Amino acid sequence: MSYLLSIDQGTTSSRAVLFDRSLSPLAIAQQELVQSFPDDGWVEHDAETIWQTVIGVCREVLERTGVAPRDIAAIGITNQRESTVVWDRATGVPIHPVIVWQDRRTVAHCDALNAGGHAERVRERTGLLIDPYFSATKLAWILDNVPGARQRAERGELAFGTVDSYLVWRLTGGRHHATDATNASRTLLFDIHTQQWDAELLTLFDIPAAVLPEVRDSSSDYGSIEPGLFGHPIPITGVAGDQHAALVGQACFEPGMVKSTYGTGCFIMLNTGEQAVSSNNRLLTTLAYRIDGVPTYALEGSIFVAGATVQWLRDGLRLFDDAAETERLAEQTRAGSGVYLVPAFTGLGAPHWDPRARGAIFGLTRDTGIAELVAAGLRSVCFQTRDLHRCMEQDVGLGQGRLRVDGGMVANGWLMQCLADMLGQEVDRPVVRETTALGAAYLAALGIGWFRSLDELAASWQCERTFFPRMPADIRESLYAGWQVAVERVKSDRD
Ligand code: G3P
Repeated sequence: MSYLLSIDQGTTSSRAVLFDRSLSPLAIAQQELVQSFPDDGWVEHDAETIWQTVIGVCREVLERTGVAPRDIAAIGITNQRESTVVWDRATGVPIHPVIVWQDRRTVAHCDALNAGGHAERVRERTGLLIDPYFSATKLAWILDNVPGARQRAERGELAFGTVDSYLVWRLTGGRHHATDATNASRTLLFDIHTQQWDAELLTLFDIPAAVLPEVRDSSSDYGSIEPGLFGHPIPITGVAGDQHAALVGQACFEPGMVKSTYGTGCFIMLNTGEQAVSSNNRLLTTLAYRIDGVPTYALEGSIFVAGATVQWLRDGLRLFDDAAETERLAEQTRAGSGVYLVPAFTGLGAPHWDPRARGAIFGLTRDTGIAELVAAGLRSVCFQTRDLHRCMEQDVGLGQGRLRVDGGMVANGWLMQCLADMLGQEVDRPVVRETTALGAAYLAALGIGWFRSLDELAASWQCERTFFPRMPADIRESLYAGWQVAVERVKSDRD
């Protein structure tokens, strides 16, 4: 048994990656996921489609490589976090579409809780802010809006889960209703210090305890998949939310190490070790991973729109056909074009937390063309990273630490150079860019004893290229000052 299979269920696609014994990726399969926007600020997925795409990509990598299911030692799962599923325990059928993490329908509920003075208590226990981003108000919304759901939940007939739980449930034929500590830490219901679901928070968000999954380590026994699915009962031994898996895949195991993942959004995470550091800059305190019952903590900055900006420029404005063209287009521009794109399409995440803010483009002139808009979109990703990096610097002091980057956008060399320039710091791009899937594979490998410690895993991490800052500091600071002005102008509390 010399292979590992990683399932990476993301916001815009489901992927399966097959790794060999040395944890090199052998094959990748991917299927896009349909996004549904039924109302202003609403974002939903169909849970059955998520399931079908997951099974589809797993079968595809197996068929393409000819690897037999009995040769797969274990499965690791990583997933879009916070997105909320509620299903019938008897039939396994979801009672409502998945409410996706980007969904803003519960903004009024969050406003009321914040106005009620609950924010500090919630932050102390969960490390999070009360925002529609997290699962609790989404779950309450489903229980309140699907007829009979609340009563059925109280009778223990319904199960709640983030996407990892739903997949574990389906893969194991309903034998395991479980989640890992990283996913639990994104619900607003889990006390990250005691590592338990919190009774007071359940009362505050009006959630019956009977719907909750059991919380396990990120590297743990999640049961074996139904033999009927692939013809062999493969064990699931690693589960983590995608950003936490990326931190693991980047081997950021020492306090002070930072990674930034550029997918639909951008999530920058700093390992803070055994200490759950509380931010003075509205960053989140979260679980990095939990192994052998021991929690490791992280500070996280969450940017809701990164790769989604490029998608919008391509599909919404039709400025180019392929995301790969953005590198060539951006190379044609000069740094001081003065165009700023603030991609607050679904509000602003950290450190602003303004769900009502909306996007804008500033500084247009007659010579602004496609290339300038593309460069402004890409630059917005770097500016937002700098916003969060600055907050982390103020909270804990990052010193000369380097940034490890991953996700689809890091293939763009112009963007990576811009990032190094904006941060004034080295940016390391790894050899294996499937970092999220790699992290899930690491966790699964630990679970079956392929590795004995995180140190052994850290030794296998390799840097492909380092981007060094080249921009003079005065230009960097003046560009960044322009960004800060632009962000202030899109905030909802502005007159
Ligand atoms: O918190 C949301 C995050 O987990 C989504 O990640 O990569 O699907 O954009 P991604």
